[in-house]
Amino acid sequence: SREFQGYPTQKPEKLVARIMESLTKKIDLVADFFIGSGTTAAVAEKLGRKWIGSDLGKFAIHTTRKRMINIQRQLKAEGTNYRAFEILNLGKYERQHYIGVNTNLREKQQQKQLQEKEKNFTELILHAYRAEGIENFKCFHGKKAGRLVAVGPINLPVTRLFVEEVILECRQKHITRVDILAFEFEMGLFPNILDEAKEKGIDLAMKYIPREVFDKRAVEKDEVVFHDVSYIEVTPRYNGKKIAMELTDFSVFYSQDTVANAAA
Ligand SMILES: C[S@@+](CC[C@H](N)C(=O)[O-])C[C@H]1O[C@@H](n2cnc3c(N)ncnc32)[C@H](O)[C@@H]1O
Repeated sequence: SREFQGYPTQKPEKLVARIMESLTKKIDLVADFFIGSGTTAAVAEKLGRKWIGSDLGKFAIHTTRKRMINIQRQLKAEGTNYRAFEILNLGKYERQHYIGVNTNLREKQQQKQLQEKEKNFTELILHAYRAEGIENFKCFHGKKAGRLVAVGPINLPVTRLFVEEVILECRQKHITRVDILAFEFEMGLFPNILDEAKEKGIDLAMKYIPREVFDKRAVEKDEVVFHDVSYIEVTPRYNGKKIAMELTDFSVFYSQDTVANAAA
């Protein structure tokens, strides 16, 4: 049916409508914090209820948005009023999913659960990056196209200390080509740290882990792009009460990936 959104756990609108009609009035606000494909919101809109939905999955949010836009179009075509809606992003909740532990467990089990989650997280990132897992390294988790890959922490920015550890292991094991993947990098890390590594004969490439790594479909379709970290340097120029910013340097660390993507 047109109602079907391809969402695995979608509920029928008719069933939800029956519940909503018997439990709520038109002026009521309906909330579903596990909105999935948006059935509750769709029914609420059609029955003239106000609604709020939330979900930790990006796919659910996109599915719901698409569904609600179609319903607005349908209602408009029928000459029925509908309300505008907005989408708010409340935070890095998907990462939270990977580090949250069950606090009812004993300390030791919590620790075990955390380790397990970190391992799954690293595997997820490596898979999305199309890298192969490796063991017996202190800093490195995988390898790809002749380069070793280090995955930064889930919930913290990559710090200078982290990069220094990587450089140390490179020097001990004669590793010369490295990718560091992270959600965030500490401020002031670039470009100095890259120059420092270069002086030691190490080619360091820093890349951002995109949010799409949590979107299974994007991963399977190979649509997840890890962008190279770039930076700009500006110098302020004062002229009386006026200030101008001069762009004095910028850099993008091109990798074979980005060149290939640009060519495609
Ligand atoms: C069973 S599905 C809901 C299906 C929905 N009734 C429909 O008709 O499409 C449950 C949803 O809850 C979401 N979810 C699971 N844990 C969550 C959490 N802690 N916070 C927000 N959403 C969550 C999942 O991503 C999933 O989309």
